Amino acid sequence: MQSTESLFENIRNDFPILKRTVRDNKPLVYLDNASTTQKPNQVIDSIADYYQNHNANIHRAVYALAEEATEAYEATRDKIANFLNIKNRQEIIFVRGTTEAINLVAYAWGRTHLKEGDAVVTTEYEHHSNIVPWQLATRANHAKLEYIGMDDNGELILDDLDKHLATGKVKLVTFSLVSNVLGTITDAKGIIEKCRAAGVLTLIDGAQAVPHMKVDVEDLGCDFFAFSGHKMLGPTGIGVLWVKKSVLETMSPFHGGGDMIREVHKYETTWNDLPYKFEAGTPNIADVVGLGSAVDYLTKIGMDNVREHEIELTKYAIEKLSAVKGLHIYGTKDISKRGGVVSFNFADVHPHDVAQIIDEEGIAVRSGHHCAQVLMERLDVAATSRASFYIYNTRQDIDILVNSLNTVAKVFKL
Ligand code: ALA
Repeated sequence: MQSTESLFENIRNDFPILKRTVRDNKPLVYLDNASTTQKPNQVIDSIADYYQNHNANIHRAVYALAEEATEAYEATRDKIANFLNIKNRQEIIFVRGTTEAINLVAYAWGRTHLKEGDAVVTTEYEHHSNIVPWQLATRANHAKLEYIGMDDNGELILDDLDKHLATGKVKLVTFSLVSNVLGTITDAKGIIEKCRAAGVLTLIDGAQAVPHMKVDVEDLGCDFFAFSGHKMLGPTGIGVLWVKKSVLETMSPFHGGGDMIREVHKYETTWNDLPYKFEAGTPNIADVVGLGSAVDYLTKIGMDNVREHEIELTKYAIEKLSAVKGLHIYGTKDISKRGGVVSFNFADVHPHDVAQIIDEEGIAVRSGHHCAQVLMERLDVAATSRASFYIYNTRQDIDILVNSLNTVAKVFKL
């Protein structure tokens, strides 16, 4: 059997983009994986193969190509079911990404279930995509939006949840399984247990979790689960919403159009079976196929190996960055509670300046509010720099990042 070390060494060969240079002929050091990951040849080739050999519309025609395209599209649904231990494939809906998935729930579930005086609870460390749809839905339905606060260690204050649940007004609690800024791994089971005891539904934003660790949706016991393909080696524009069937059956459609109907008459329509009721119009077939290849690729590596590799890199990064004078790292130092994300500020240098200077050395990190302005307010900063890791990153990438901070220190005379 291949050792984990050599497994991850060889992985880089599958990613053509990692061979290119940027700026002044500097090798690319890609550390913005929480934003989007790079794509291996296997995923790129599967999309090209789909267009070169199988392209047709799905679920509509009986000819050979249409059958092949339908099979390829539906095969990914089965791969997702296996990957996340989902028992019923009818509960898996293809959407454009996590943002669309959460908007679908906020609209199609919220419209039916949220009433005046009800509450939805989210957290202070959510991405905007798990805040703004709930602002819209609670406003439209005269309900309220409440927050679970975060402590100075970057962990949620679960007493806040208890207080909200005690009001008896909460209909839904929503949270990210891994924070995109702090990397905090949420105590999902703890939250879900409390919510279930109170008869409250739960939605998990799994965008930063599914690519990085083994996730078992049935075992979590939530009601909604959302994630994106592009953060897990797949193409952009494709993601998944999973909804427990008993809940999905109570929801009205999100988009109306082709494929989501059984019969359409002048003034009324009946709906197609699940999940098609929620997949209106020609879907993103090629990218569903690409997502299937990404799932195959990650399955072959093994999600426990992926997590182990990231723990090793994150530990190393925190150790090295902590030794840089004037650098402050946000979030917990307890690696068992952290994904492969490290947000930091360097003295009083603006994160955009840090990112721009180290970009000259070929390093790609994100700087800014990371679509989490509520969290930035809580941290009392306008922005941070963020390095985030994936399967193809190495200790050497982190060394290059840490060395590049010397240049920043020189430029700003720190
Ligand atoms: N959600 C992505 C990020 O955190 C875009 O960078």
